[in-house]
Amino acid sequence: MDLLRHFARPLPMEVICELVGIPDADRPRWREYGAAVAAGIGLNFAAAVPGIIEGAKAAVARRRAEPADDLLSDLIRAQAEDGDRLSDTEMVTLVWQLVLAGQTPTNLVANAVDALLAHPGQLAALRAGPGRMPGGVQELIRWCGPQLLAIPRYAQEDVELHGVLIRTGEPVVAAIVSANRDPRAFPDPDRLDLARAPGAAHLGFAHGPHFCLGASLARVETEVALAGLLHRFPDLGCAGADAARVPDGGTWRLASLPVRL
Ligand code: HEM
Repeated sequence: MDLLRHFARPLPMEVICELVGIPDADRPRWREYGAAVAAGIGLNFAAAVPGIIEGAKAAVARRRAEPADDLLSDLIRAQAEDGDRLSDTEMVTLVWQLVLAGQTPTNLVANAVDALLAHPGQLAALRAGPGRMPGGVQELIRWCGPQLLAIPRYAQEDVELHGVLIRTGEPVVAAIVSANRDPRAFPDPDRLDLARAPGAAHLGFAHGPHFCLGASLARVETEVALAGLLHRFPDLGCAGADAARVPDGGTWRLASLPVRL
């Protein structure tokens, strides 16, 4: 089976829709928006934007009419109690941002399974000691995390970094992938070592005020996905062909992940 298509892709979308409060009936359209956004900048992406905004507005309106036990209902309740909290525009923005960002663990789960299948010794150790899962997932994020680059920033003043002058207004991109393989922070950085002693923190979720809002969710989701998969399928293995990668300068991701269960 293709583990990307049948497991790693649907799972995070289901989880984030459940948490945020997107009703079952609306999930197919969010899966379509998610696919358009994940495919990158292009005509499909641009064409999806009006639907995304409409979908988020519809989700807020529905939860206002039928509150339930989810994030959106909580936010609406808080807004009613203290009108100062979030404006309607902020709430709509939050919904689409969370749902679309919430699908990113897909690429981490797929990369992690691909990496484990290529490192049978590490996989066996993880199976033998499920307690190694949280540390193992941290190492997998360092070694094969999907986000290669931070979002561009623009220098607000001239600044010199390591002998290079960056002028006011010039864009700067931090290469997360490079920082996570820095030998000064991680000895023998190209080696995947799930038992690596936590020394320097990886930057897979960035750093500072814009540290990933969903980092804890992404970590736990990946732990649960891997633990469930390894437990249910003791013979999980590659199905022959090398898993193909999508040519994408910003995201390290697979086009498919053929496995034997
Ligand atoms: C493996 C999964 C994930 C990875 C590798 C990842 C990575 C990142 C990175 C690197 C940033 C910082 C970008 C920058 O400022 O340059 C970021 C920001 C963000 N992430 Fe994630 N993320 C993941 C999962 C999620 C999930 C599940 C959610 C939502 C539930 C989420 C929501 C966000 C949001 C809202 C921001 C913007 C935070 C801000 O600007 O203050 N992410 N993520």
